[in-house]
Amino acid sequence: MSDIFDFDKRKDRYAVMGNPITHSKSPRIHTLFAEQTGQRLEYTAIQVDVGGFKQAVDHFDASGGKGLNITVPFKQEAWQLVTERTERAERAGAVNTISFSNNRLIGDNTDGVGLVNDLRINNQIELKGRRILLMGAGGASRGVLLPLLSQQPASLLIANRTVDKAVELATAFADMGDVNGSGYDELEGQQFDLIINATAASLQGQLPPLPNSILADGACCYDMMYGAEPTPFMRWAAAQGATRVLDGLGMLVEQAAESFFIWRGVRPDSQAVISILHAELHS
Ligand code: ATR
Repeated sequence: MSDIFDFDKRKDRYAVMGNPITHSKSPRIHTLFAEQTGQRLEYTAIQVDVGGFKQAVDHFDASGGKGLNITVPFKQEAWQLVTERTERAERAGAVNTISFSNNRLIGDNTDGVGLVNDLRINNQIELKGRRILLMGAGGASRGVLLPLLSQQPASLLIANRTVDKAVELATAFADMGDVNGSGYDELEGQQFDLIINATAASLQGQLPPLPNSILADGACCYDMMYGAEPTPFMRWAAAQGATRVLDGLGMLVEQAAESFFIWRGVRPDSQAVISILHAELHS
């Protein structure tokens, strides 16, 4: 763990905890937000050993820390640990933002709103009335379902290799609209306006087993992953004629912007930060 006691006492302190954490862009993003908005704060990355999460959070709290972002693999543990959860955190089953306030640990989840804001505000992609395909039924999918369904799409289909997990997840959100679960084979012959990749396939340089010809006219494809190169899913989308093909850099910055807003009550100019990070990634 880095030395969390080595800090500037005049600045409010925030950090991201995860493992691994060295490549996290969160310190860069929050430092840019702070500069933009004139907020006095310090934001660091803390690598936490598996098994040492509660102790690390307690330490940070006891030493006067104001808030934390939580990333892989601790989001579910953070959900367990907090004393209160927002509705979107409750249903996400994961917490990525903690605020410390008078011995209370308030857990929120800003991933889903980050995705929705990147789609709607940054890219003018409307979700209401659209047919959405969400690939994957793990934590990344669960984390974005409430904000996606709040936009009232016509339908949302969760596709997963392990079909039972997709059906189970769809059932958990059935009260929020037309949500179903399926395998990839059953996608044949269907049409979607928006496909979101929330699987870990891109991390492994793989493409989920999607049939061809499932993109409707004007369809958009979104990979929650980002990198210097397009993912296999993004290449597939371009080859299938998708109108828009987007990566997850905007979602990363937007989830951070929402955390910043929760902590500081100020909305940063996220699009300016997306442009900076995009340029850095492609330089
Ligand atoms: P996360 O918290 O990132 O969602 P996870 O809970 O391990 O991680 O879930 C990973 C998701 O990616 C799962 O939906 C997984 O499918 P299975 O449940 O069938 O394992 C999916 N996934 C991982 N690798 C994949 C691949 N190569 N192709 C398609 N789906 C993949």
